[in-house]
Amino acid sequence: MKILIVGSGGREHAIAASVAKSPRADKIYCAPGNAGIAQVAECVPIGAMEFDRLVSFAKEKQIDLVIVGMDDPLVGGLVDLLEEAGIRTFGPRRNAAVLEGSKAFSKELMKKYNIPTAAYEVFDQAEDALEYLHTRAKFPIVLKADGLALGKGVLICNTLQEAEDGVCTIMTDKKFGSAGNRMVIEEFMTGREVSVLSFTDGKTIRIMSSAQDHKRAKDGDQGLNTGGMGNFSPSPFYTKEVDEFCRKYIYQPTVDAMAAENRPFVGVIFFGLMLTPDGPRVLEYNVRFGDPEAQVVLPRMKNDMVEVCEACIDGRLDQIDLQFSDEAAVCVVLASDGYPVKYEKGLPISGLEKFEGRQDVFCFHAGTKFAEDGRTVLTNGGRVLGITALGADLKEARRKAYEATEWVQFANKYMRHDIGKAIDEA
Ligand code: AMP
Ligand code: GLY
Repeated sequence: MKILIVGSGGREHAIAASVAKSPRADKIYCAPGNAGIAQVAECVPIGAMEFDRLVSFAKEKQIDLVIVGMDDPLVGGLVDLLEEAGIRTFGPRRNAAVLEGSKAFSKELMKKYNIPTAAYEVFDQAEDALEYLHTRAKFPIVLKADGLALGKGVLICNTLQEAEDGVCTIMTDKKFGSAGNRMVIEEFMTGREVSVLSFTDGKTIRIMSSAQDHKRAKDGDQGLNTGGMGNFSPSPFYTKEVDEFCRKYIYQPTVDAMAAENRPFVGVIFFGLMLTPDGPRVLEYNVRFGDPEAQVVLPRMKNDMVEVCEACIDGRLDQIDLQFSDEAAVCVVLASDGYPVKYEKGLPISGLEKFEGRQDVFCFHAGTKFAEDGRTVLTNGGRVLGITALGADLKEARRKAYEATEWVQFANKYMRHDIGKAIDEA
């Protein structure tokens, strides 16, 4: 099969590495890819939002399967266009990707189908949101821009003043662009967060392993929110009881709700959960693998990725038994110092060869590119590399991952030193 992966981050590198293990994959392309993905796929210089060019490329190369990794093209309807052109594609259509594309939609879906989540209100006008804050709000409170905002459109406000400023930031100043044309104001919840990835064919849902992300930039969960600075899988806090509850009240009900709304969901649903004192609640849905969740979950998956994607497309996921190795995985992100605000790019990276041929330690490229010489690898983003290690347990995986972070060097290398520290509390 000829397979095209759309995206350019660490998640797409993990997807490409997983696809490359499939005996069915003869040729893998990635658009646009990066210097690490180039080890397993041919990178083509087409951006993930260049829909016409992606469709033409897929037709011209007679691609047998497209896997869309990123949220923007999914929410923008790339899957619909590829399907109209007769190309088999793994990922939700536009009318299902709205599950991530609009927080107001996802909250209304959860309310309608009794899926546990924080209480909320939706606002189209800043004045109405302010009026609500003055009359009915309890603090802290959570403000969310409705649309996609690179994981940054969520503000947790401790006081009325902060919340008023937040409404202006989102709806008046449009800091997150058109994502802030509507907003959700919701109840603040407390508890441990868990990410759960799943495959679904629109009817059946199969749960992958759980993971725990570290969203803040600095040690001790300080600093700004980022795309994710590292994570581990499985989460020791995702117990059998939690799993049973979520299967009954969250996972299958979400798939059924989307089907009932005539928005059958084919692809990956990522459940962002909070384990509150009153039980698990949905924080958010994503319609794709997480980044870096894919980097700790996919290396542990025993199934043939291509086969699972095809089963989803063909509506026969019920015939697939998803299996994961008993090993644990930890991923530490190596970022450019200053991320997520301001940082330098284009710096040479050394030591990458130490990962070659390793089956237990991986270096997934998030933001890298080749220099003019076509060989030297340069930094090309805020998140640069994701160092993943497998181990007999989380502690071993963590020790190995941190050891391997020392194998690579670049001038402004920055990482958190407490990824997986929560393991010690489990
Ligand atoms: P989201 O993009 O919706 O996952 O939100 C980003 C982060 O904000 C989450 O990972 C949580 O840490 C936090 N968050 C979102 N919603 C809430 C909430 N209702 N209560 C407390 N924290 C929240
Ligand atoms: N790591 C969180 C996300 O991919 O949205």
